[in-house]
Amino acid sequence: MSFLSKFFTSSYLGVDIGTSSIKVAEVTYAANRFKLKNYGILESYGHLERMNDALQTSSLKLYESETVELLRALLNKMKPGSRKAIASIPAFASFVTLLDLPVMSNEETLQAMPFQARQFIPLPISEVAVDWVKVGEFEDEGGGKKQQVLLIAVPQERIQKYQKIFSSAGLDLIYLEIEGLALTRSLIGSDPTPTIILDIGSRSTNILISDQGALRMNAQTDFAGGTLTQAISNGLNIDVRRAEKLKKQRGLQGVGGEQELSTLMYSYLDAILGEVGRVREKYETSYNIKIERMILSGGTALLPGINDYIKKQTSLPVVRANPFAKIEYAPNLEPIINDLGPMLAVATGLGIRGLL
Ligand SMILES: Nc1ncnc2c1ncn2[C@@H]1O[C@H](COP(=O)(O)OP(=O)(O)OP(=O)(O)O)[C@@H](O)[C@H]1O
Ligand SMILES: [Mg+2]
Repeated sequence: MSFLSKFFTSSYLGVDIGTSSIKVAEVTYAANRFKLKNYGILESYGHLERMNDALQTSSLKLYESETVELLRALLNKMKPGSRKAIASIPAFASFVTLLDLPVMSNEETLQAMPFQARQFIPLPISEVAVDWVKVGEFEDEGGGKKQQVLLIAVPQERIQKYQKIFSSAGLDLIYLEIEGLALTRSLIGSDPTPTIILDIGSRSTNILISDQGALRMNAQTDFAGGTLTQAISNGLNIDVRRAEKLKKQRGLQGVGGEQELSTLMYSYLDAILGEVGRVREKYETSYNIKIERMILSGGTALLPGINDYIKKQTSLPVVRANPFAKIEYAPNLEPIINDLGPMLAVATGLGIRGLL
């Protein structure tokens, strides 16, 4: 059996459905290492035209039929060797809270959770799926043993929607996970360094704190890549597609007459960093720990000049997300692997989850 299993090691598809793009990473395990076997990224521009609507409604609808179509198209191109998929729930569609509880048995914790959930989740408990992960233990001032538990709740409606999308696209959805856990897995592993992971997507920015190799905090803001595009479009009075192109080409690096572009983006980046600062301070003062670095992920991590700007504003060392540091990949990807990292960090973490 073990001889055969070497030939049939299965692979899993990590599927990250974002507002502006779908990212898939097919991950397998061979010779004691995870390996990126295949990947696909499909950017769609439909969200650009919808941006105004999206800014007005607080919760953006997942465009179900469009998503199925895009996912199918992407899989057709990829021709993955597996249909088994793990998908992510975006930060804006979930509730995540870190709780300090007395140390209890697993069973007792399980019983306590619905009560805890009721206090922290702004939806009727019957409408959400509740999950929890123990992320650490510590001693409080009185010497009592406490455990830190990450409480996660996802609306049932969202889960059903995902199940429909995946089965319509011919995939077997075996697991759903919040983005923050997938990112911690692919970018942190067991590294104990207190770290902020900033995932700046299109519609939302996910602010995560990992410490001692576990996700400790998960916050979110609606300022993100889409806001930057919108700011350029409004500021220069050009259409959003042109603004999107300019943003990617020049980013924050314009000099002389081109500085206007960066000026249009600074205040929104500062709004994101303001939120980062609040989350950082809350964590640092609550647990008496200093954050030591920042990892930048999501498509906006590719904005030219963003690393230096954030370094300057936060006085933290800033690095670009690299989920492939400990994962094998085909040598022909070498020239682009650095740019793929921030785009595929969630999908890769999800793919690995399937193999655990
Ligand atoms: N080279 C680049 N320079 C600047 N911005 C970029 C670049 N490439 C992608 N982006 C921006 O990144 C965003 C898309 O990132 P990503 O794919 O992580 O978002 P998403 O997962 O679809 O969205 P969300 O997570 O908010 O739902 C877009 O706003 C896009 O303009
Ligand atoms: Mg995303």
